Amino acid sequence: MNTTIRSIAVVGATGMLGAPVTKILKQEGFSVTAVVRDMQKAQRKLGAGFYLSKGNLKDKNSLRTAFTDVDYVYLSLSTAPDEKNKRFKTEIDGLKNVIEAAKSARVKRIGMLSSLVKDYDGFDWWVFDIKREACKILLDADIPATIFYPSSFFENLTNLQLKGKRVVMAGEQTTKSWWIAANDYGKQVAESFRVNKNHNENREYPVQGPEPYSMEEAIDQFIKHYPGKTLKKSKAPMWVFSLLKPFSASIDFQYHILSAINQYDEQFQSEHTWETLGKPETHLAAWTKNQGE
Ligand SMILES: NC(=O)c1ccc[n+]([C@@H]2O[C@H](COP(=O)([O-])OP(=O)(O)OC[C@H]3O[C@@H](n4cnc5c(N)ncnc54)[C@H](OP(=O)(O)O)[C@@H]3O)[C@@H](O)[C@H]2O)c1
Repeated sequence: MNTTIRSIAVVGATGMLGAPVTKILKQEGFSVTAVVRDMQKAQRKLGAGFYLSKGNLKDKNSLRTAFTDVDYVYLSLSTAPDEKNKRFKTEIDGLKNVIEAAKSARVKRIGMLSSLVKDYDGFDWWVFDIKREACKILLDADIPATIFYPSSFFENLTNLQLKGKRVVMAGEQTTKSWWIAANDYGKQVAESFRVNKNHNENREYPVQGPEPYSMEEAIDQFIKHYPGKTLKKSKAPMWVFSLLKPFSASIDFQYHILSAINQYDEQFQSEHTWETLGKPETHLAAWTKNQGE
């Protein structure tokens, strides 16, 4: 049995998806360093058992320090709605700084969370352009890279869509997404850093869960199985977002991401991911029963 403990630094460990994946990496036996801007927030989100290293994607030196003696780096970054007119783009300029720091610290591989829907081509959107460019930058970076392209996460339901007793949705999804739990994804991320550890090739994995749901079907399941309180579905028409988006970067962002999800013709494409990294086992009903206060 190989008992080597592998070490990994996570940037974005305090995020909605970074936090659960960081916890799973620790459960799966990695020595985990969370590279964070706010130590107190990290302690609140992650609890005990993690090395914390103060770091900022804008500061290469802080990244180089955080990456000293780590085998792998995992990135769970997002683009904020107000970044359009900012010079520093987190997923591009932050990624470039990570690559430089990782190379100088002799990190063996960088893993990065991307997204499946970024390939939606029904309209041009600066955020999808950033995400596509980020993948290209990492794949061309001359350091072994693993990129994950997930469908929708169950965690959206609790973190973004549940507002008091209402579960909000916008427009109608004419297609279905293979929703997945962040914990199942975290296990696949852990496995990706274990497999073929001597090979230096780039790897790319679509990430999808066990069942396809439209947004409305997912919300209906969530409401049906949510413990402890009765929830109601609340539908907002897309024209409301369309009307208000010129006045708010955040609404403009939501309009574009929701429109893309509603129309993106997601096909199941994760056979290889399941064979290589394990099949996600968590169904939405079972996951929902474990939510609530
Ligand atoms: N939601 C879905 O269903 C879904 C599906 C597929 C793909 N995705 C992708 O998942 C990604 C992550 O989403 P999320 O909701 O977890 O994002 P999030 O909650 O916004 O997390 C972003 C993380 O990046 C950190 N960060 C931002 N700027 C930083 C900087 N300058 N230096 C260091 N750390 C910095 C944040 O730290 P602070 O805590 O300090 O702000 C936070 O930990 C997104 O790119 C999204 O496209 C999401």
